Amino acid sequence: MIQKYVFGDPIRTEAVVSRIGEGDSLRYFAVEETEDGRLIFSRALSDHDVLYGLGETVRGINKRGWIYVSDCTDETSHTEEKRSLYGAHNFLIVDGADRFGVFVDAAQKVTFDCGYTDPGRLTVTVEEGGCVLYLIENSGLREIVREFRAAIGRSYIPPKWGFGYGQSRWGYVKEEDIREVVRRHRDRGVGLDSVYLDIDYMERFKDFTVDGDRFPDFADFVREMKEEHIHLVPIIDAGVKIEKGYPVYEEGVENGYFCKNEDGTDYVAGVWPGRVHFPDVLNPPARKWFGRWYRVLLEQGIEGFWNDMNEPAMFYSGKHLREAEEELRGLNLDDMDVWGFFHLKDIVMGIANRPEDYASFYHRIDGRMVRHDRVHNIYGTGMTRAAAEAFEELSPDRRILLFSRASSVGMHRYGGVWMGDNQSWWSHILLNLQMLPALNMCGFLYTGADLGGFGSNATEDLLLRWLELGIFTPLMRNHAALGTRRQEFFQFGREEDFRSMIGLRYALLPYLYSEFMKAALTNDMMFLPLSFVYPEDPFAPKVEDQLMVGESMMIAPIYRQNASGRYVYLPERMKMYRLRSRDSMDEEVLEAGHHYVDAALNEVLIFIRPDHIVPMAAEGGVFAEQVDSENLRLLHFAEKRAVYDLYDDDGVSRDVTLEGHLRRIVVER
Ligand code: GLC
Repeated sequence: MIQKYVFGDPIRTEAVVSRIGEGDSLRYFAVEETEDGRLIFSRALSDHDVLYGLGETVRGINKRGWIYVSDCTDETSHTEEKRSLYGAHNFLIVDGADRFGVFVDAAQKVTFDCGYTDPGRLTVTVEEGGCVLYLIENSGLREIVREFRAAIGRSYIPPKWGFGYGQSRWGYVKEEDIREVVRRHRDRGVGLDSVYLDIDYMERFKDFTVDGDRFPDFADFVREMKEEHIHLVPIIDAGVKIEKGYPVYEEGVENGYFCKNEDGTDYVAGVWPGRVHFPDVLNPPARKWFGRWYRVLLEQGIEGFWNDMNEPAMFYSGKHLREAEEELRGLNLDDMDVWGFFHLKDIVMGIANRPEDYASFYHRIDGRMVRHDRVHNIYGTGMTRAAAEAFEELSPDRRILLFSRASSVGMHRYGGVWMGDNQSWWSHILLNLQMLPALNMCGFLYTGADLGGFGSNATEDLLLRWLELGIFTPLMRNHAALGTRRQEFFQFGREEDFRSMIGLRYALLPYLYSEFMKAALTNDMMFLPLSFVYPEDPFAPKVEDQLMVGESMMIAPIYRQNASGRYVYLPERMKMYRLRSRDSMDEEVLEAGHHYVDAALNEVLIFIRPDHIVPMAAEGGVFAEQVDSENLRLLHFAEKRAVYDLYDDDGVSRDVTLEGHLRRIVVER
């Protein structure tokens, strides 16, 4: 059962799409309204309560013991003390003596104090402006998620090629850089479906332009790549460069489609291209206008995009930069003591992404001017919605790949998310794993992290271990920042191992695509904490580094440097496969309980449940379309009779249903 409770006069986020009845009196939480208009919902937590959810956040699967702030932020360092990342995913499940889900539908900042201030209390604070609270009660954890997901609408479905391997790097600047990457994969028989174009493909970082010197005939280049079965995926940033004669800028100004200052002039911020305006994607006509600009690239053969800097990130605001300059001038540079130095640092460090700046510009919503901080968390959603709605018109028959950095619940209908600027750290493999089920709970099924890590320098072993998790994530992309060590597989020695590992992704594609589609079409999760599948198992909620992937298997990746094995908990008897490649593996049946299992650097472990099947493509394939889901090899643990319904489709049609797309596979002993 799902019921809603309205507090104040909240902005409509459009996160929930079905009609939900209003409850009488709020259960589970005490509610208080402060004098300054904030809402505080709180309840006691017992020692046994476990908290799941909150999507893309730092720390574990059980969110207890930290404070998380939904306040979409361009955060470049995902360390434990951070409270906000790029998403605002306000859905949480409390599992204990009471079991329920709560969704805080609000466009402004929301703080979830999950036993940080007081270990025995959960306190949710909603900044001024009101909210709609949804409470969901159902028989189990997974059922609560399904009911919530039914209310927020079907998750985005990408084209099948979006499940292939992608190579990306901030720093591929010209055609030849990309040809070289493709050649190196193809020559060595390493799978690849896409190469991503970061900001350098544009002319002076202007959205919807292509630099003519670096890409003299872009449409032709896109065609050349397609002949190699490679999709180019350009980045689009939120800020529109202020430049006379640039049509996106000119049209936006002329029609009043940019965010405004209080006095009605266009708001100025600084991002990659220098001074920019932000398209007012929360205003329907402006959203429609911005979305239609994607046409320029679609017409040149592009079929996928990643939307970035849409928190929106600001290096500086036009107004504050001048103030900061004044303040800097006021410093005594001839004799600077420690306090002066700290002050200098504060001035400089405080220029980007300032809360005061977010509270100083406006959107036009339903005929009213609404201050940005009141709707901050739905801006990235607005941008991605702009693109997705345009694609429905511009590409009515074919799916377009689309994922975003900033997001809120509701955006899951329009696109996926990548997990932003992580680092080449071992701990970030685990963080990648822990975010997966939490994002799935909020509807984000198409997701993945920058494999190998975005910031910092990757090593061969780190990349290989990370790929051993990445081969399971729907978005499987190796991406890195400008200035970091190059981390394409061919930069390292173990060529055979990389080929085999990426080959395993293509081998597992029939199963992974099937599980993704079933999850999307039934509002289910693809990655689940063990406790969602084994609710009676008292140890399952304590497992923070293993996941169920779809209905047949569990994974337990290695995420520690120099480890040649790990502890694994089995909630039931399972068959472990130690996979080295599609053709080289060994298997062993393990009893329920705790085990230490070895896994060399080139080995990935999967655990199959009793009477379950993981179908694998029997033959090789170096791009998704080449994977033959008819000719299968079955990894299974059939004790009596194992059944699997394999979903498959043409990989591009938008209108899909389970019906007519399932094929039953049976293994009998
Ligand atoms: C942001 C993105 C990153 C991208 C970079 C340059 O940091 O998160 O993925 O490479 O901008 O566009």
